[in-house]
Amino acid sequence: MRIKSKQSTLQRMNADAVVIFIPEDKKLLHDKLQELKKIFGKRIDSFVELENFRGKNDQIVLFHTEKEIASPRLYIAGLGEQKDLSLEQLRRSAANVSKTAEKTNIKHLAFELYHPHYSSNVNKFSTQDIASAVAEGAYLSLYKFDKYLTEKKERKKHIEVITIFDSNRTTLRGIRKRLKEVQIICEGTTLARNLSNAPSNEIFPESLAQVTKKSAKKFGYKTIVWDRKKIEKEGFGGLLAVNSGSTREPRFIILDYNFKNKDLDTIVLIGKGITFDSGGISLKPSTGMAEMKMDMSGAAAVIGTIETAARLNLPIHLVGLIPATENLPSGSAMKPGDIIKHYGGITSEVDNTDAEGRLILADAIAFASNFKPKIVIDLATLTGACVVALGQHATGMFGNDDEVMTNLKAAGEKTFERVWQLPLYDEYQKQIKSDVADVKNVGGKWAGAITAALFLKKFLPKNKEIKWVHLDIAGTAILEEALPYSPKGGSGVGVRLLIEFLKNYQ
Ligand code: BES
Ligand code: ZN
Ligand code: ZN
Repeated sequence: MRIKSKQSTLQRMNADAVVIFIPEDKKLLHDKLQELKKIFGKRIDSFVELENFRGKNDQIVLFHTEKEIASPRLYIAGLGEQKDLSLEQLRRSAANVSKTAEKTNIKHLAFELYHPHYSSNVNKFSTQDIASAVAEGAYLSLYKFDKYLTEKKERKKHIEVITIFDSNRTTLRGIRKRLKEVQIICEGTTLARNLSNAPSNEIFPESLAQVTKKSAKKFGYKTIVWDRKKIEKEGFGGLLAVNSGSTREPRFIILDYNFKNKDLDTIVLIGKGITFDSGGISLKPSTGMAEMKMDMSGAAAVIGTIETAARLNLPIHLVGLIPATENLPSGSAMKPGDIIKHYGGITSEVDNTDAEGRLILADAIAFASNFKPKIVIDLATLTGACVVALGQHATGMFGNDDEVMTNLKAAGEKTFERVWQLPLYDEYQKQIKSDVADVKNVGGKWAGAITAALFLKKFLPKNKEIKWVHLDIAGTAILEEALPYSPKGGSGVGVRLLIEFLKNYQ
């Protein structure tokens, strides 16, 4: 799908349908209707009356034009009250219109750029932010994972072009560059969604590495892929233990963007790459197990983010680390009671083979310090406990640096990929104490998201003060219910959040 911008009036804009937004406030509604009356005459008055259009949030009406303007259809979409206007409201309204319009099998949908009328200084957004939000909401809402549907009637026609138009040339010049960025960011999110949603017979460690290599080649970053032998040689005991039940080989994927520029700060992103999590010998119940094809959503977010960062030329040295394997039961699988030696030498006791994410992340976190990073951020669909705590509307955030977490929180509010901090109090430590190893991989019934995060924290090198944040995306990456601009399944969460964070990093 293409996002375009065009200098045009409502009359001249030639698309399959055009969209205008109107807020609920009486005076603003009245003024806009007066404007429309100049184009469409009295007919628009009786139409609005008949449809009882009041500009309410989520109210959409379709007006069939009669050659007064170049487009055959006009959608009038309510925005709710001006005082409540937010970027998220604009994303959602754009999403709702897009999904409604797509049902009529159109190809080109054009949005008139919305200009808010502020009565006070609260909630002021730039024209760029408004254009971005509308384009983003429209683009992301139209995502479908339908490549395996072979019947034509199930595979509907898609909207191919979204245009944001405005009659003012200077305004348009201002938004043009931002919309190009939005297109790239939405494509990064789509890549992450596609990887998450892909079944485990398509995306497994080897094919995940192939996809990464292809992206790297296309967008000018570097990848190094370790096979089992190299993983053994480096002593990634966690990754090997989790892989031992699978006939598919593990991979350790290293992505490196801007490695040549030695002056830049380094940020390491780590993504959990379990391409299928059956639980292993501690087998999961079969209900809902299919969802666990998405247990590599952290890896998907890292690949999507680094590809996007490379395309946007962000001035930062970014390293991505992805330990990738399936977690399956078999005669050779790891078993409860096993003791693992991780990269760097720390040992862990496996009390439950379904707590596998932390075992593979431990190797990667210990390894990350070799890059001398300023910040390490890991993303993982790590615990059901985090889903219990926060559901699908916030990512669990843990870390050792308040400034980085504050910035991530701000990026979350801006993109609406919100994060919520949970504590790493020392008192929880004793839950993961082991009698036979340095640490145990489960911490009992309570505070499961916290004990998982504390397990990861143990693998940060003691002598170097590395800023670290762990994002538990178990609830936000795998959606049980659709959101306004994401269908259920893989949401691609993390890409928009991290790009916003990285754009503001200095
Ligand atoms: N991949 C799961 C966590 C998960 C659960 C992600 C639901 C998305 C939705 C993880 O590997 C896991 O199984 N965690 C266990 C840990 C437990 C055994 C301590 C869990 O959360 O139940
Ligand atoms: Zn598991
Ligand atoms: Zn898992």
